[in-house]
Amino acid sequence: MPSVTLVDHALVQHKLTLLRDRTCSTANFRQLVKELALLLGYEVTRDLKLTTARIETPLETMDSPKLDGKKLVFASILRAGEGLLAGLLELVPSARVAHIGLYRDHDTLRAVQYFFKAPEDLADRQVIVVDPMLATGNSVCHAIDILKKAGAKDIRFLCLLAAPEGIAHLHAEHPDVPLVTAAIDRQLNENGYIVPGLGDAGGRMFGTT
Ligand code: URA
Repeated sequence: MPSVTLVDHALVQHKLTLLRDRTCSTANFRQLVKELALLLGYEVTRDLKLTTARIETPLETMDSPKLDGKKLVFASILRAGEGLLAGLLELVPSARVAHIGLYRDHDTLRAVQYFFKAPEDLADRQVIVVDPMLATGNSVCHAIDILKKAGAKDIRFLCLLAAPEGIAHLHAEHPDVPLVTAAIDRQLNENGYIVPGLGDAGGRMFGTT
């Protein structure tokens, strides 16, 4: 079974409440998503493999921990993933980036691919897929299918809000992919929105309807 990490840190929960509020402006929404990405990024990278490097401090020689060779790829599901990506790239500026363009067919709620670009050596990298909302799970499952077909083997998923239905879907299709989220909400509504949720994440982030 994959792991689900619910980040209950007080700052994360506080910022999430500000984000959910319908009166949150576009500028604040974008800023909060970035700040949440920094905090959640800390959690999703917590157990990355470390090695040691011999360094000289001003006082003596020591073997000090540093990240092991496996390089990171942040895989952003367009377009709402871009908000989280901005924060994560501040945390790990050297990470590579994959973009996966998916839109949601409004009748079937299924994810349809329109773009994919990723580094070639995905098999050698730790891939962290980012999308603020795990709703039906169709988008992230499709994105992970695409990444696995392109060679990715070691994948994690980071979101802000998850619906129980989306978690079940992710577990069923990709039991090897651990999930990190700031909240698990009650359910999906009849339009596939998470409730209580925060509305349309992409729309609120970019000021579109
Ligand atoms: N995508 C969103 O932006 N919001 C939801 O509630 C579900 C999917």
